[in-house]
Amino acid sequence: MSPQRRADGSLRHLITLEGVTRAEVLGLLDAAQRYVRKLGETPPSNRSLAGITIANLFTEPSTRTRVSFDLAGRRLGAEVVNIEVQLSSRAKGETMIDTVHTLESIHFDVFVIRDAEPGVVAHVAANVGPHVSVLSAGEAHLSHPTQGLLDALTVRQYKGDFAPLRIAIVGDVRHSRVARSAFEVFTTLGVRELRLVAPRGLMPDPGEFPGCTRADDIEAGIAGMDVVMMLRIQKERMTEAAIPDGGEYYARFGLTPERLRLARPDAIVMHPQPMNRGVEIDSAVADGPQSVIRAQVTNGVAVRMAVLQHVTRRGGGA
Ligand code: CP
Repeated sequence: MSPQRRADGSLRHLITLEGVTRAEVLGLLDAAQRYVRKLGETPPSNRSLAGITIANLFTEPSTRTRVSFDLAGRRLGAEVVNIEVQLSSRAKGETMIDTVHTLESIHFDVFVIRDAEPGVVAHVAANVGPHVSVLSAGEAHLSHPTQGLLDALTVRQYKGDFAPLRIAIVGDVRHSRVARSAFEVFTTLGVRELRLVAPRGLMPDPGEFPGCTRADDIEAGIAGMDVVMMLRIQKERMTEAAIPDGGEYYARFGLTPERLRLARPDAIVMHPQPMNRGVEIDSAVADGPQSVIRAQVTNGVAVRMAVLQHVTRRGGGA
């Protein structure tokens, strides 16, 4: 039994999308879709998580994930506390587990954790009480499961059926947790082709991403693709010497309007953000008619509402 499941098989934690079934993914996407509203409309809210207390514990920077988990919890009636890690006793050497146990003692029920160290999220999940759920908000280079789900929801909104789709994941795949969660979810959903497009130094090791095709040239790599998912260079996971020069990278691997014309005419462009404009993506593409980058952000709140309800087993309507 996966450590992220209860004895009855239900998902109690969400640490990775590996092993999350197609039925579970589609159920989460359907639940999330019910929470999506056009900008300008009143966001949905209900009281399904009333009485639940959620801690956002982020030891790496975040804008989208942290804000959307915060809003997702509040829109479901939960109490949400954003722990300022730099101002907490973690800064005095307290371990993550001691911090979590302290918060458990004052009735926190859900921990949303972003951490640069592999294994921390699973370690916390293995050391909390049985009523507590732990959600990854991004773990090292390994996993960003709610990002994978929001990416899948966005693709479904714009492209419909997953089966005929050819998806290119472009850029620093090697250091990307977004790419790994995208690989897991799109493999589970059965897309026609998942292609990794990266310069050699940013391509993952050969044993990783089984079943994906690979290209080390962006023009060949995105030709004929339905979805072009761009990635930021993860400088924080590289040595100084290994960080590519931004200008050279743009010349060789930046997504420009000219290069995008090689993909299908109706291809969508995605990016998890934060973006480095003029490095991996040109502003004319990021803000252009094929970009769905802002829709990804909108979908993030809806997906996190669905996930919070699922793991706490507090279903409820929009
Ligand atoms: N996509 C994403 O994880 O963005 P943040 O780092 O701003 O949360």
